[in-house]
Amino acid sequence: MSTTELAIEAAGLESLQLSEQQACLFELLITYALEPSTGYDADYPLASPVPYQPGTRLALRDAFNERLAVLTVTACAPAGDGFLLHGSLQAIMRPRWRGFEPLRLTAGEACERLGPCIAWVPSAWPTRDEAVRAAQLAFEDGLPIVLFVPSHLPPHVGLPARVRAARAAAAETGAEVVILPMADPALLGTALTHYGARRRVEPGGTVLFDAVDAIRRAEQPSRAEQGFCLWFTGLPSAGKSTIAAEAATLLEERGRRFSLLDGDVVRTHLSKGLGFSREDRDTNILRIGWVASEIVRHGGAAICAAVSPYEAAREQVRSMMPAGQFILIYVATAPEVCESRDVKGFYAQARAGAIKGFTGVDDPYEEPLQPSLRLDTTAATPHANARAIMEFLVQEGFL
Ligand code: ADX
Repeated sequence: MSTTELAIEAAGLESLQLSEQQACLFELLITYALEPSTGYDADYPLASPVPYQPGTRLALRDAFNERLAVLTVTACAPAGDGFLLHGSLQAIMRPRWRGFEPLRLTAGEACERLGPCIAWVPSAWPTRDEAVRAAQLAFEDGLPIVLFVPSHLPPHVGLPARVRAARAAAAETGAEVVILPMADPALLGTALTHYGARRRVEPGGTVLFDAVDAIRRAEQPSRAEQGFCLWFTGLPSAGKSTIAAEAATLLEERGRRFSLLDGDVVRTHLSKGLGFSREDRDTNILRIGWVASEIVRHGGAAICAAVSPYEAAREQVRSMMPAGQFILIYVATAPEVCESRDVKGFYAQARAGAIKGFTGVDDPYEEPLQPSLRLDTTAATPHANARAIMEFLVQEGFL
């Protein structure tokens, strides 16, 4: 079947969207970088939120909804919250990645153009020590050096900066640069072998080439230039919105601009239509978290106040931002105090049975395990609590 025919068939099939991480594995499989596996199997299964019958033909889509392949499911087994699929792949196209196209060689292309090589997978930033070791191995084996930059492995520094740093290091050592579609460190060894690597440079060292260091410094601004997210969690009527507004005022007084994302307000637009089931609450929290992470990424201050009753969703939001920039603030007002305040009268309604699934009455609130700050709202005023938050931000270097 030609790829055109496949694409036509795929357009009519049920489809599954791959995350960027999954698209990396997919690309390695269809480009023979994990041979003998060329489809999803016991070593490389595909996670799916829903089950599929063996025999099902399924279109796989990337993040841009391009159809990448037709998957014929051969096995499906429950795993955790979802399912793991095995199946064979008929590729339509490689996933589309943004930028540096000429460096995204397949294993076949790399072997053809560069031949056997010494693989240098740089640490966070390529070091001079690594360059020296690479040169040593290259000399011993009479092979060229290739700097392999894994697209999706930590550290979570933007790929463009890592590629530019790799190019700068390559220029100093006469090496080539190849970007690997790689989201799982366990696959690195196998993939590198297929990319022609004979030996691999031991990572480590601290001294950087000047050009690499300049890129690193531009990429990692000082704390004072970084964004942060103040995330308030706590029972309804705990005082989240009040303290968040006070904190916003204090930031404004210091000339720091901010975006305030309050659960009650967000639910009138961004999360309009969502209810209070666990699933809807999680969706609400992840939406707020996604917006906050974009603000933080651009160096802004995001102030979020939502009940956010589930630890897992809060931690998922934390993982959307660079480490340390998500500041979890637990507004730890006792349940009876919250209920006695009952700012909006919801507790009374919940007790009367007029609302079902109200947090703190008949719906759970999981206390945060690792808040950055825990605020007492009976002993301290909202203003005093907001000042404590400012002190924390100063201590952490954000202000
Ligand atoms: S969250 O659980 O998804 O984080 P969010 O903070 O957006 O909740 O919204 C909570 C607000 O919605 C409460 O302050 C309250 O005014 C209102 N609300 C209405 N129904 C409920 C409910 N069943 N549980 C909690 N809050 C509710």
